[in-house]
Amino acid sequence: MSASRMIAIKDVTKIFHPGTPAQSRALNGVTFDVAPNELLILKGPSGSGKSTLLSLIAALMKPTSGEVVVDGTRVSKLPEEFAALYRRRTIGFVFQKFNLIPTLSAVENVMTPLFPEKIPEAELEAKALGVMEEFSIAHKRNAKTSNLSGGEQQRVAIARALVNDPPILLADEPTANLDAALSRQFLGFIERIKGEGKTIIVATHDPLFFDLSFCDRQIELHDGSIVAEEP
Ligand SMILES: Nc1ncnc2c1ncn2[C@@H]1O[C@H](COP(=O)(O)OP(=O)(O)OP(=O)(O)O)[C@@H](O)[C@H]1O
Ligand SMILES: [Mg+2]
Repeated sequence: MSASRMIAIKDVTKIFHPGTPAQSRALNGVTFDVAPNELLILKGPSGSGKSTLLSLIAALMKPTSGEVVVDGTRVSKLPEEFAALYRRRTIGFVFQKFNLIPTLSAVENVMTPLFPEKIPEAELEAKALGVMEEFSIAHKRNAKTSNLSGGEQQRVAIARALVNDPPILLADEPTANLDAALSRQFLGFIERIKGEGKTIIVATHDPLFFDLSFCDRQIELHDGSIVAEEP
C-alpha cells in the first residue's frame, strides 16, 4: 500500500440481520482513508455507526458490502484464523467497557495477547510489566482486575492493547468511564503513542477530543454516513 494510506475504507455498508424484521443498517456507503501516524477522531451521536466501523477495521466482523484494507491486506475478506492473527499483529483495541478478564490479575490480563507467541512465560511477564510501567499501573500487577478502579482498569486495558506493539490503536469511547483528571491523563497517553508513530482512531462523544492540538482530523457520522469531515 502507498505510504499515504494505512487504512482504506471503501464504500462500506453494514446491515445487521439483513432480510429479517430486525434488519438494521449501521453503515451506509462509508469511504475514507487514514494515513500512517494519523490521529483520527470519529464522532457522531449514539447509534451512528462508530463502534461498527472500529469492529470492521479490527476484522471482528465483515462488511455487507465494500472493502476494508489495512496496511495492504484486504481484512474484510480474511478467513477467521487469519483475522485473529491480523488482530494480534496489527491492532490494539481499547474497548469501551475494557473487556478485562475479572478472574485474572492485571499482569495476566496484559499478557493474554502474548500467549500465542512461543516465548517463555517469564519473558512474557517481563514484557507485560514493562508496558504496565509506562502507563503507571505496574504496582497493581497482582490485583484481580475486578478489584481495580475504573481508571486503573483503563490503564490495564491500554497496556493490553499495546503489549504487542501494534501499529494501529483503536479506542472506543475510552473516556466514557473516567473523571476529568483521568480523561486528561488518557489524552496524554494518546499524544505519547502518536509520538511513537502509531496510527490511532478514537471513537468518542467526549468534547475533550474535539479541540486537540495533536489531532489530525475529525470525521462525523450520522445514521451510518459521513456528514462532516474537518479540517
Ligand atoms: N450486533 C448488532 N445487531 C444488530 N444491530 C446492531 C448491532 N450492532 C450495532 N447495531 C446497530 O447499528 C447501529 C450502529 O451501532 P453502533 O454501535 O456502531 O453505534 P455507535 O455510533 O457506536 O453508538 P454509541 O455512541 O451509542 O456507542 C445502531 O442502530 C445499532 O442498533
Ligand atoms: Mg459505540
